[in-house]
Amino acid sequence: MIPAEIIRAKRDGRQLSNEQIASFIDGFARSAMPDYQMAAFAMAVFFQGMTRAETTSLTRHMLASGQQLKWNDRSVRPVVDKHSTGGIGDKVSLVLAPLLACCGVRVPMISGRGLGTTGGTLDKLESIPGFRTDLTIPEIESQVENIGCAITGATDDIVPADRRLYALRDVTATVESVPLITASILSKKLAESLDSLVLDVKVGSGSFMQTPEAAAELAQSLVDVGHALGLNTTAVLTNMDQPLGQMIGNANEVLESIECLQGRGPNDLRELAIHLSAIAIKTLQPDEVNARRLLADKLDNGEAYDRFKQLIAAQGGDLSQLAQLAEPHDIVADRNGIVESINGQTLGNVIIELGGGRKVAADKIDHQVGIEMLARVGDRVSAGQPLARVFADNAASNQVCPLLRRAIVIGDRAVIPPKLVIDRLDSGAENGKS
Ligand code: URA
Repeated sequence: MIPAEIIRAKRDGRQLSNEQIASFIDGFARSAMPDYQMAAFAMAVFFQGMTRAETTSLTRHMLASGQQLKWNDRSVRPVVDKHSTGGIGDKVSLVLAPLLACCGVRVPMISGRGLGTTGGTLDKLESIPGFRTDLTIPEIESQVENIGCAITGATDDIVPADRRLYALRDVTATVESVPLITASILSKKLAESLDSLVLDVKVGSGSFMQTPEAAAELAQSLVDVGHALGLNTTAVLTNMDQPLGQMIGNANEVLESIECLQGRGPNDLRELAIHLSAIAIKTLQPDEVNARRLLADKLDNGEAYDRFKQLIAAQGGDLSQLAQLAEPHDIVADRNGIVESINGQTLGNVIIELGGGRKVAADKIDHQVGIEMLARVGDRVSAGQPLARVFADNAASNQVCPLLRRAIVIGDRAVIPPKLVIDRLDSGAENGKS
């Protein structure tokens, strides 16, 4: 089929057939199609959207552009994973993969790099010298068989169509499209050959989807398409109107994850890691109250941290050499009052400005810079009290401190802190408020 005809059909709002989508994606994956045709297609989808049938077909053919992981004995040791749509300070993956591995499931986690203003699991882990994020398919399979988990990046063999399409979407302003996000996330997760997937769909100023409506639309699309492709999928909508945990950056997020893995650290991080993990192990432990107790024990008794150390060592990392944090600089409150809001997008931009995230794909990450939040929404604060700590050299810190100070709004009225878990959608089941 002629690619321009398929682009024209989508541009004019016509529904594409499975054959049209197959031919288009196959041509792209075989590098038989120039990038500009795929960029035009992405823009047509961005404006016209896709039906669930089209999105399902797009996901299926993107998956088919690469290979899938292979597992034995899935009824005994289910293969599960979690994916987050990305949020400020979201380090749950670093805790959840080893935690789940201690519970008898396998977690072949294929993660991404920072996207927009949100950080990436791979960038965070690369603050551990030597840590490899480029495992081959046989390496992923054997590591997951041996220690129960791996956290690595997509390879040329796993959904290569997504790698190329994603790079194009980033530079053609077509990232924020529900069908394209759905196909991108699910094709990678389906390549892991999972039994079940938990999706953490973030909503709020520190995330991709800034309104509950947009997040709910994405969550429903992910659950529907996952279900249509035979994957037991649950989406949890979680609040991102303030950072998750206190640390935002790279090395400092690894340190905070280690705290959590040792049974300490901020409550919201622990709570969310346990909440999402309990859903992921529901085939082994259907009673979520018992599952939560089991997971909390594994954090408190050191098992999860031991597994994390095995994971780091298996991928060549040396935790004793974790990047040191840059010099700390405190930002203080200029008045008494109550923290009314914290603008996550601004915090993300500050991290990028400091070098902890990327302005362009080729930028190198500075793992030593970051922010530690010392106040949360709803906290009463007094003039002079530290609100946040910036880890950076003097010049960079002087540049970002005014921005950061403005991101934390102090008012006079009492504020109810936002609820962390907002909603839950299960594939094939009735959706209900949690
Ligand atoms: N994460 C992905 O992997 N792809 C997207 O398109 C958005 C978030």
